[in-house]
Amino acid sequence: MKFFIDTANLAEIREANDMGILDGVTTNPSLMAKEGITGANNILNHYVQICNIVDGPVSAEVIATDYEGMVREGEALAELHPNIVVKIPMITEGIKAIKYFSQKGIPTNCTLIFSAGQALLAAKAGATFISPFLGRLDDVSTDGLSLIQQIRTIYDNYDFGTEILAASIRHPMHIIHCASIGADVMTGPLSAIKALAKHPLTDIGLQQFLADHAKGNK
Ligand code: G3P
Repeated sequence: MKFFIDTANLAEIREANDMGILDGVTTNPSLMAKEGITGANNILNHYVQICNIVDGPVSAEVIATDYEGMVREGEALAELHPNIVVKIPMITEGIKAIKYFSQKGIPTNCTLIFSAGQALLAAKAGATFISPFLGRLDDVSTDGLSLIQQIRTIYDNYDFGTEILAASIRHPMHIIHCASIGADVMTGPLSAIKALAKHPLTDIGLQQFLADHAKGNK
């Protein structure tokens, strides 16, 4: 399972990358705004900075919602760095744009996936990744994990190469469930990634080992 971090915060990206387990980064316009990154040039420059930290796919989202606009923006994003993945919303125009980029060999991440039908369409258009939003489905009392399971089955039935990128991860159990189901990638906050390492018995056990070592070496 690949681990992506879902943030535009450079310090968090560096910290996750330094752990040695980071495979890529996802961003979105809200995450960029949260870091105060505004204006076309600053946004493009920020993507380059992220690409310079992490050696893996970096999703950069288009703002346009029409086909021509998405193609124009996506091409400019793809030129920034070979690791850029053009992130495109799941709308009809977006499907056309994904098909266009797929034919040009430019990787895409189809975002805002909330149904199996959307995932099927994106795969048929040739999306590299699709991002089902697990946490946002859970937020509205809908089982996000069942959706990911259903998409896994559909993709396996037809050998679609599109990778399931479980997004909107909120906590470590989301990551563990996604791994059990067979999501190809998860993208989540640094807190959820770091929480995977935590167990009280590990802390107690380590304390005991160190105390015993100290006693024996007095
Ligand atoms: O990658 C999609 C993700 O950023 C959405 O997460 O927490 O805003 O639902 P969230």
